[in-house]
Amino acid sequence: MCGIVGYVGYRDCTDVLVSALTKLEYRGYDSAGIAVFENGKIAVAKTQGRLSDLTNKMETEGKPHGHAGIGHTRWATHGEPSDINSHPHSGRRVTIVHNGIIENYKQLKQFLIDNERDEFLSDTDTEVVAQLLDFYYDGNPIRCIRKTLHELRGSFALGIIFSDRPETVYAVRCESPLIVAQGQGEVFIASDVPAVIKYTKDYYLLEQEEIAVLKNGAVQFCSLHGRMLEKELLTADWDEDSAEKGGYPHYMLKEIHEQPTAVKTTITPRIEDGLPNLSECGITVDSLRSFRHIFIVACGTAMHAGMVGKYVMEKLARVSVTVDIASEFRYRDPLLTENDLVIIISQSGETADSKAALNLAKKRGAKTLAVVNVKGSSIAREADMVVYTHAGPEIAVASTKAYMVQLSVMYLIAFEMAFAKGKIDKETCRALTAELVSMPQVIDDTIHHVLDICQYISTRLISAESLLYIGRGLDYALSMEGSLKLKEISYIHSESYAAGELKHGTISLITDGMPVIAIATQNTLLEKTVSNIREVKARGAMTIVICDEKAEIGVDAADYLIRIPKINEMLMPMVATVPMQLLAYYTSVNKGNDVDKPRNLAKSVTVE
Ligand code: F6R
Repeated sequence: MCGIVGYVGYRDCTDVLVSALTKLEYRGYDSAGIAVFENGKIAVAKTQGRLSDLTNKMETEGKPHGHAGIGHTRWATHGEPSDINSHPHSGRRVTIVHNGIIENYKQLKQFLIDNERDEFLSDTDTEVVAQLLDFYYDGNPIRCIRKTLHELRGSFALGIIFSDRPETVYAVRCESPLIVAQGQGEVFIASDVPAVIKYTKDYYLLEQEEIAVLKNGAVQFCSLHGRMLEKELLTADWDEDSAEKGGYPHYMLKEIHEQPTAVKTTITPRIEDGLPNLSECGITVDSLRSFRHIFIVACGTAMHAGMVGKYVMEKLARVSVTVDIASEFRYRDPLLTENDLVIIISQSGETADSKAALNLAKKRGAKTLAVVNVKGSSIAREADMVVYTHAGPEIAVASTKAYMVQLSVMYLIAFEMAFAKGKIDKETCRALTAELVSMPQVIDDTIHHVLDICQYISTRLISAESLLYIGRGLDYALSMEGSLKLKEISYIHSESYAAGELKHGTISLITDGMPVIAIATQNTLLEKTVSNIREVKARGAMTIVICDEKAEIGVDAADYLIRIPKINEMLMPMVATVPMQLLAYYTSVNKGNDVDKPRNLAKSVTVE
């Protein structure tokens, strides 16, 4: 949601904080700010707008100099984006940055007002925390953090400095992610590892309610009760380059091109003797045989990967699968039993609703499996079993490579489960797995093959006010993702629809020239989909059809054809995804939008 950073070391603190925040702007970018110890006093610089607005402001008004401080980039939850609502926020002696949400901030604010603490400047929940810390501060930072945390409800990660504890940064977390990175003679806090990878690859994961004290270039950990803690130092297995744009104009385009490698890295270690083998992730053949029902629970793009998973698992393994939006699942009192498997899919592993769904599933005794990209994230740690997707850091807000690797894991699970249940024989399982293994090359070819046509067709989309994405079967599952991708970065209203359902109401939306993007990769359903395409074309729609290179689709149905390689139709989603991503990307570029940071969105949704 927001990004927080902190630094204690020998470098210029402002430079480090700004550099680290640059890597966290994907988490929020409607205001930015820092607080630095300058000559023993806390100097604050903050502004509404992007980080570049903050650096411009510091250039004209002067930037704080020092060696310890905290910083923030914001995605507004409480109070509009404004200078005054920007972090850091201060009490009399305490200044903080905060990622997350304080659910009971109104009651706490009232409590403070009742206790003659009514010095509130902003509309934020964060300022209430700063004032509460201040209220409890009696010269002992740990005690004051403990008392404050005791009062807070919600999810949060905090970077805290006390005016009478110069050159020291405190950090604590509850739900929202936070790492502490250790360099040579310098130490950092950050919401995510890429923020500081330029300085060091070594980091600690701060656990629930652990406090980190950063001082003299080193860190000490303690519990809320002040008990010293030993923690395991982890090393990131990717470097700065893999978190940079590498010559691409946008992270999104870079990440689209990284998909072949991401899929290869994800599936290769899970294939043995030509067959899927997920035992390393804790998934046994016996357990795969035994599940009564499978729930796939996720949000947004990750949920769309689950939709594809449902089709494939049901078809191959003959097990019933329900896909749920996490924010619905957590409140709909689902019929979960100990014989069910709940698969939580999440790129970040920190999405609040997905995490709550996981907790609910565990409470009800179901087995839980996380499909997660970020190592050591909350969902990965809390699930019974975890399959990591190895996409590497995904920086663009619009998910591409993470979706692709989530698909690849859905296939691995479906193949292994179908084989374990005796629904397919070894040879069929081997053949399917071999096709999955060939996907990186097919995806790579597809990217190069469709790039130009997608770029061209996007010029026909930019003036549209609204469009439809349609498909049947797996293509329908895919159209949901195509539609989401397009709307979130192009800002064109788009809906996905089951092609056969159009005539039950939605077809009345079709007007002259309205773009309809049809996915028609499922041969068994091709004729039916083509009739639906003809129906919208006959009513004036401009039709763009994504189909395989052999599909017989004439100009009577398609104004534009995007041909992709023909492979096993069950695996077509991994290929058809590519033109959908590129159409969205180029439409956004052609409209002059901020592709990697679309308005109102944040990469990691750690609030409900
Ligand atoms: C859209 C997108 C989002 C995420 C969703 C879940 O491009 O990225 O819809 O898929 O917010 O996020 P994770 O996967 O981190 O749980």
